[in-house]
Amino acid sequence: MIPTPDISHLTSVDYNEVYEPAEDTFLLLDALEQDGDTFLQLRPLMCLEVGSGAGVVSTFLAKMIGNSAMYLTTDLNPAAADVTKRTSEQNCIVLQPLIMDLAGGLLSRLRGQVDVLIFNPPYVVTPSDEVGKKGIEASWAGGRKGREVIDRFLPQVAELLSVDGLFYLVIIKENDKDEIEQIMTTYGLQMVVVLERRSGPERLSILRFSKTSSS
Ligand SMILES: C[S@@+](CC[C@H](N)C(=O)[O-])C[C@H]1O[C@@H](n2cnc3c(N)ncnc32)[C@H](O)[C@@H]1O
Repeated sequence: MIPTPDISHLTSVDYNEVYEPAEDTFLLLDALEQDGDTFLQLRPLMCLEVGSGAGVVSTFLAKMIGNSAMYLTTDLNPAAADVTKRTSEQNCIVLQPLIMDLAGGLLSRLRGQVDVLIFNPPYVVTPSDEVGKKGIEASWAGGRKGREVIDRFLPQVAELLSVDGLFYLVIIKENDKDEIEQIMTTYGLQMVVVLERRSGPERLSILRFSKTSSS
């Protein structure tokens, strides 16, 4: 069992600016842990997490896979990049946090090279004018169907993934997984639902996409 990363260095002051790890975060950790044997076979060299928030997910992934891989993270909230760095250091892990929108600034450098790609996006259904802010609101504001940020990222996924690469996406029921599956099929990606859990009013799912079929 991989221990949950130590976040004892973070306080309510940090969580005023950066998403506090919650049920969605922990379900994602469970999904990654469940795929431990897959990572042993895949031997990832390049891992990229979009929207790293407090940095718990990439820190956990790096603990699982070890220092044979490089771990890049992005977030459009500068405070999240700072907290991600601090969380990695607290757990003796090396992550490279970058401040950017999605993975736009990495596309030309990382095309076809990302072995593990992760996004726990802002998935909550909100008015569209709440989307695109760079503070704590960016943690949840998903706009129409909670899909406005997710849908901007989907076209980047097939470009970034390596041949055997895996993409993990957190969604809620309102995001419409069947429609997401249809969109990803047009990019040649197959979807598997790896975990589902109810958390209060949210029905969370972890979806995994790959270029080749995986069960
Ligand atoms: C639900 S939080 C998840 C945080 C963390 N990965 C976790 O699982 O606890 C979503 C994160 O995505 C970031 N984010 C939202 N829109 C983004 C965008 N366009 N580009 C990069 N990061 C974004 C937010 O700032 C926030 O840190």
